[in-house]
Amino acid sequence: MALYEKPPMDKLIEELKVLKEKVNKGGGEEKVNFQHSKGKLTARERLQLLFDEGSFSEILTFATTRSTEFGLNKFYGDGVITGWGKIDGRQVFAYAQDFTVLGGSLGETHASKIVRVYELALKVGAPVIGINDSGGARIQEGALSLEGYGAVFKMNVMASGVIPQITIMAGPAAGGAVYSPALTDFIIMIKGDAYYMFVTGPEITKVSIGEEVSYQDLGGAIVHATKSGVVHFVAENEQDAINIAKRLLSYLPSNNMEEPPYMDTNDQGERELKGVESIVPTDPLKPFDIRDLIYNLVDNGEFLEVHKLWAQNITVGFGRINGNVVGIVANNSAYYGGAIDVDAADKAARFIRFCDAFNIPLISLVDTPGYVPGTDQEYRGIIRHGAKMLYAFAEATVPKITVIVRRSYGGAHIAMSIKSLGADLVYAWPSAEIAVTGPEGAVRILYRKDLQNAQNPEDLLKEKISEYRKLFANPYWAAEKGLIDDVIEPKDTRKIISRALEILKNKREFRYPKKHGNIPL
Ligand code: HXC
Repeated sequence: MALYEKPPMDKLIEELKVLKEKVNKGGGEEKVNFQHSKGKLTARERLQLLFDEGSFSEILTFATTRSTEFGLNKFYGDGVITGWGKIDGRQVFAYAQDFTVLGGSLGETHASKIVRVYELALKVGAPVIGINDSGGARIQEGALSLEGYGAVFKMNVMASGVIPQITIMAGPAAGGAVYSPALTDFIIMIKGDAYYMFVTGPEITKVSIGEEVSYQDLGGAIVHATKSGVVHFVAENEQDAINIAKRLLSYLPSNNMEEPPYMDTNDQGERELKGVESIVPTDPLKPFDIRDLIYNLVDNGEFLEVHKLWAQNITVGFGRINGNVVGIVANNSAYYGGAIDVDAADKAARFIRFCDAFNIPLISLVDTPGYVPGTDQEYRGIIRHGAKMLYAFAEATVPKITVIVRRSYGGAHIAMSIKSLGADLVYAWPSAEIAVTGPEGAVRILYRKDLQNAQNPEDLLKEKISEYRKLFANPYWAAEKGLIDDVIEPKDTRKIISRALEILKNKREFRYPKKHGNIPL
């Protein structure tokens, strides 16, 4: 008689079902209830919301830790659920950290599961969404945890520019654990006490530098969306975060070899814009919100603004024109007169580089008086940061279309993408003003001596400003020099952009071979 008799298949399947049920319970009922009491969903509930019904395929379901130190309990899955599924019919990989299992902490196996998701996603060219909810490096696994983070960070970097990476911040993130989200393309963070991210928490902050600050004031969603710029989208709740991720994906190709997804929006590219003249005042000193123009310009007014609450003097985001995805970079005079500061330059440069990496054409809408002057900006490195925009636009090989709607002065004129920097087509409205600097500044420099010696300097100043404005406060001087392809009526802007996108669809532009460039950081 055999010592071990293999049970029949039905018994084996029953055993498997029992085990899977155990897996599905995560850290157990008590922990799940505690998770819910904080207003948080579990990792499985989140994945269920994220993926098309029944489409999720789990991998490394039974993987568990090899460590035994500090009586470490073994849990199937090791605190992270990994796999792929469909979102609106498209294949997407995901991992969701399970806070009910060892606080979602990251040890050796947990990390290797995330790495495996990335390896597969890179092989097949599909995006990765990471739902982060973790106490950070698993203390019991010591240096293995840190090594695990290193492996995850490396995969984030290997995947950068190859497949889109989206992070949903759905719990705490402290210490180095914040850096995997930071290495991805977009961070969506949920509002509320249960969600925060910082390198050093309030307790250590108090002990080390004597500063008292709450969790939310140090690392909540609002702080990161308005002050640090770490967060790209703020979600009202968990469901909202999932919705934002899905909406974002709808604008993105699955990888850098694909075009962004075309969508039949039923909004004609040749459509005339209505009432734009009343949105954009011709008086250059009157601020207006550029988003009112953008909503008018894009298909059905649908614009997904990125970094909406940070560096609002520049507006960036995704929309469609005639069904084709575009990335829009626009100065917003409603904030700091639309001048470019260090944060605006960083925001724009990162967005431009993302669009270029993923074949998304760029539209610049220009209305800027220049870079912000003063010691604050100079000390913070406006030279270094401002250079990022120049670098990003010059480096980009996607179609680049510029429309100058009003002021376009100095370095900022160049930074918003002009012909010599590599713009493919440049248009201007009749309200455009293109010059090295604003009228008063220019006159004070050009006529310094005359103004010093004049009997009535104010009159002379006015007269010279008027002369200067006559020459440069229009697009024609630049158009005569061949710097503007056409001066267009505002109502034709969408039509012109739509046609430009069509002609530039098969644009080819080549670069010298190199390992990588050295963007000023
Ligand atoms: C192991 C951890 C853990 C961790 C939490 N847990 N974090 N286990 N390693 N890092 C466990 C807890 O022991 C607890 O287990 C369970 O998860 C739930 O945690 P609670 O503390 O009960 O939850 P909560 O009150 O919500 O507090 C969440 C928390 C807190 C604020 C995140 O758990 C915490 O401070 N954790 C430690 C954070 C930390 O210092 N991490 C290392 C950061 S440095 P039981 O069994 O009691 O339920 C880092 C370096 C990365 O990450 C370096 C990368 C280069």
